[in-house]
Amino acid sequence: MKKEEATLVLKNISNLITLKGPNRARIKREMSETGLINNGIIAVKNDKIIYVGQGTLPKNIKTTAETKIIDCKGKTVTPGLIDSHTHLIHAGSREYELFEKIKGIKYLEILESGGGIYDTVEATKKASFKELYEKAEKSLNIMLSYGVTTIEAKSGYGLDDFETELKQLEVMKELNKNHPVDIVPTFLGAHAVPKKYRNNSDDFVEKLLKEMIPFVSEKRLAKFCDVFCEKGVFTVEQSRKILSEAKKFGLLPKIHADEIESTGGAELAAELGCISGDHLVGASYNGLKMMAEKGVIANLLPTTTFFLQSEKYAKARKMIDLGIPVTLSTDYNPGSSPTENLQLVMSFGAIKLNMTPQEIINSVTINAAASLKLENQVGSIDEGKNADISIFDTPSLEYLIYHFGINHTYMVIKNGKIVYNKNPIL
Ligand code: NIG
Ligand code: FE
Repeated sequence: MKKEEATLVLKNISNLITLKGPNRARIKREMSETGLINNGIIAVKNDKIIYVGQGTLPKNIKTTAETKIIDCKGKTVTPGLIDSHTHLIHAGSREYELFEKIKGIKYLEILESGGGIYDTVEATKKASFKELYEKAEKSLNIMLSYGVTTIEAKSGYGLDDFETELKQLEVMKELNKNHPVDIVPTFLGAHAVPKKYRNNSDDFVEKLLKEMIPFVSEKRLAKFCDVFCEKGVFTVEQSRKILSEAKKFGLLPKIHADEIESTGGAELAAELGCISGDHLVGASYNGLKMMAEKGVIANLLPTTTFFLQSEKYAKARKMIDLGIPVTLSTDYNPGSSPTENLQLVMSFGAIKLNMTPQEIINSVTINAAASLKLENQVGSIDEGKNADISIFDTPSLEYLIYHFGINHTYMVIKNGKIVYNKNPIL
C-alpha cells in the first residue's frame, strides 16, 4: 500500500458531517442524510482530502513533525459552506429604504419610483475599482468568518452602463485571485430596466443580446447569466430571450423567479433548464412540478423575505416533497437582504421554512455546490475533494441552527490551509 504524508489532520471530531455520497444535488430523502461520523478524523495532503473516517488514521497515512494537527473534540465539522446567491459587489447602502418600508411603502414601489436598485446603480457607477474592491473584501472576510469558503456573486449595478457591469466583474476576478474565498461570477445585466429604457425595455434587451452577453462570454468574465424576472421588471418573454441567448454563448442560466409575485418564472426556469430558480416565493404549483421534472435547483433566500417584511415564505417543504433539490443562500445585497450571515439563513431555514437540520446542511453544501456546477470539487468531505472545511464550536449541527444570530465558527480551512481562526493563540 502506498504511504502518504498528511499535511493537516483534524482528529477527535465529535460530529463530522461529511455529506459523503454522489457528487450531485441531493433530493427528497437523500436530503435527510448527512454522512455523520462520531469521533471522526480527516487527513489532508496539500489542498486535497486524502482520508475520511472514524478513530485513528490507517497505516498508510503518515504524520510528520510538519503535519498540522487540530483537535476537534466537542466541535462540529462540515464541508466549507457555500453561499450560492449574493450581490457582493456594490457601493453604498440603503438603510433609509428600511424605514420607508416600515411606513408601508413596498420594495417594488421604491424601485418603480426610481429608488432601490437604481440608487445602488448610481453609487456603483461613481465608485472606483479600489472602492468596490475594498468594500467587497470586507464583506468577503465576514462571510469567511461565518464558515463560507465559496460564493456566487452577481453584477447588476451597472445595467446599461456596461463599463460599470464590467467593473463589477473585474473586481470579482481580482478578489478571486487574492482572497481565499472562491467567487463564481454571474452576469446580471438584466437586474432592472435602466431608467433610459423605461418606455422601450425591449431595446435594452436587444443591447444585452447583441453587445453585452457576447462580450462577457468572449472575455470569460462570468460562468452564469441571471435575470430579475418579476412584475414591473423583466417579463417572462424578455427573460426567455436573454437566457436563451446567454446559453448559446456558453453562459449557464439562472433566474430570479417569482420573488414577490408569480409571473411564470418557475415554469420558465424549467423550460430553459436553468441550473437554479432563485426566490420562488410566489411560484405556482405547476411551475414547481415542472422544476422537479427538470431537476432545476430551488435556491431559497429566507432573510430576503424576512427583510421585505413579507408573511409569505417559499414553500420549501412542498419543494422537497416534489423532489426539487433545495439550496439556501443569503442574497447579500444592499436592498432586500443586507446580511453576509449564512448561519442566520440556516436558522431561518428551520424557523421560517420548516426544514430539518439535515436538509439545511445539504442545502448549503453539496446542493449549493451543484448549483454552481462545482459538485465534483467541493460541497462534501470526501477523498479526492478540495480540503474546504469549516469547524464550528457547537456540540451538534442542531445546536448550530438553534442558537441563532451569532457566529459559531471556530476555524475555517480552504484548500488545506487555515484561513480563519477564531482563537489565534492555540
Ligand atoms: O435578489 N431582486 C433583485 N435583486 C436583489 C435585490 C437587489 C437590490 O435591492 O439591490 C434580490 O432581492
Ligand atoms: Fe438576488
